[in-house]
Amino acid sequence: MAIAPAAQDIDVKYTQCFINGEWVDAASGKTFDTINPSTGEPICGVAEGQEEDINRAVAAARKAFDNSAWSRMSGAERGNLMYKLADLIEANIEELARLESLDNGKPYKDSRYVDIPLTIACYRYYAGWADKNHGKTIPINGPFFCYTRHEPVGVCAQIIPWNFPMLMQAWKWGPALAMGNSIILKPAEQTPLTALYVTQLAAEAGYPEGVINVVPGFGPGAGAPLAAHHDVDKVAFTGSTEVGHKIMETAAKTNLKRVTLELGGKSPNIVFADADMDAAVEGAFFALFFNQGQCCCAGSRLMVEQSIHSEFVDRLVKKAEERVVGDPFSDKTEQGPQVSEEQFDRVMGYIESGKKEGAEMRCGGTRVGERGYFISPTVFDNVKDDMTIAQEEIFGPVMSVMPFKDINEAVERSNRTTYGLAAAVWTKDIQKALKISNGVRAGTVWVNCYDVFDAAAPFGGFKRSGIGRELGEYALQNYTEVKTVTMKM
Ligand code: NAI
Ligand code: MG
Repeated sequence: MAIAPAAQDIDVKYTQCFINGEWVDAASGKTFDTINPSTGEPICGVAEGQEEDINRAVAAARKAFDNSAWSRMSGAERGNLMYKLADLIEANIEELARLESLDNGKPYKDSRYVDIPLTIACYRYYAGWADKNHGKTIPINGPFFCYTRHEPVGVCAQIIPWNFPMLMQAWKWGPALAMGNSIILKPAEQTPLTALYVTQLAAEAGYPEGVINVVPGFGPGAGAPLAAHHDVDKVAFTGSTEVGHKIMETAAKTNLKRVTLELGGKSPNIVFADADMDAAVEGAFFALFFNQGQCCCAGSRLMVEQSIHSEFVDRLVKKAEERVVGDPFSDKTEQGPQVSEEQFDRVMGYIESGKKEGAEMRCGGTRVGERGYFISPTVFDNVKDDMTIAQEEIFGPVMSVMPFKDINEAVERSNRTTYGLAAAVWTKDIQKALKISNGVRAGTVWVNCYDVFDAAAPFGGFKRSGIGRELGEYALQNYTEVKTVTMKM
């Protein structure tokens, strides 16, 4: 593993909007600061896109989609462009990893050895699909030849969050570009820098002008006009459930653009007494604390069978107390800062509510250091189902442990949530594993593991955790329209 570089050695190259194949300032000339969450200091100014920039980007994407080298390009050629993009990301992986950690705060080794390798794998996976999403021939009655074509949806708006900036971009761009759509990406205002860098790499790979447009900016200023635009055929959004509702409402009120949503979670992680204890402790800890707790699928309701509950919590508390929190660019660091002051305040608010509502705080609960947005790993025990911290997404390093008595209770309580993104079960008993996997209303279930992601395996939510699936073959449906052609013979 390479020695992590120092944050101050990073040179930011791309900070403008990318519209119709060119780097341009926002029409208003405005910029906003993107903040280094380790210090609270600005890194640099970034173009603040607003409605006028969105209108230009949508016009460019429309032109590229309707009449250009892009619409005439074969699937195999589209695949080759994406392989080139993946190769360019790989060639620039060190610089991208630094930029990701600078802007987001996540440990450099996570950016370099987890997020970006998954990002590259995602582009390569979808590059392979570019010439393989074909239709069917259908034997209908009469003298007819009937077949389907899987055509691109058109102009796609993609609004992404800050917790895995490069990876979320890849989950959106991979299937959209492989299927021949044109796109307008709105990166999160907290973490625009790697999205802009990858945009430059895509231009170098040779994507035709207007196929990829990127407009940094805020949610209400740039995201909302994008979701409302009448010439956008589809919007894909990842972020809070609250904004997910707005996106859907906006789509309904404007042009019925297609909507896919990947929203929040409150995922149950169920540990039975017969589980491999070392693996379950490691897994439960990772499930919640990975990425500073900022994961939509975080195992944030840790349900532990009563007979092992007390020993299990002791072991988690010990691990939490030993966790190294600090500079993301230090090789020793396991946990960096929360992404922003807003998120820091929000998480600290949830810690206060846990204390007030009577959960037992076993460790953590404090700010770490004097600057930046660091929070000590926090474990609450004996959390009740109706407490705020058991119901709402905390999105921080705050674990809630809830003991349970038997498997029926575990299934029933695991579904006491409006979310349904993920779940996990730890046991050596295949019957228990199956009963939980079948009984939990969630889009992903991990058995004796957690956060296992692969570009080929679909991911997404039941209930209020979202609509549609990302990754895998299933995600292609989000970016294709089915056309039925019937020809008289
Ligand atoms: P958010 O949902 O406001 O932001 C996500 C993206 O949506 C950003 O690009 C933002 O600029 C954009 N956005 C915000 N308002 C918009 C609007 N009215 N129209 C169009 N786009 C809009 O999430 P935020 O405020 O960053 O975090 C709040 C909470 O959301 C977190 O504490 C966490 O619970 C949850 N969240 C969930 C994520 C997930 O992966 N499912 C990712 C980020 C946040
Ligand atoms: Mg917000």
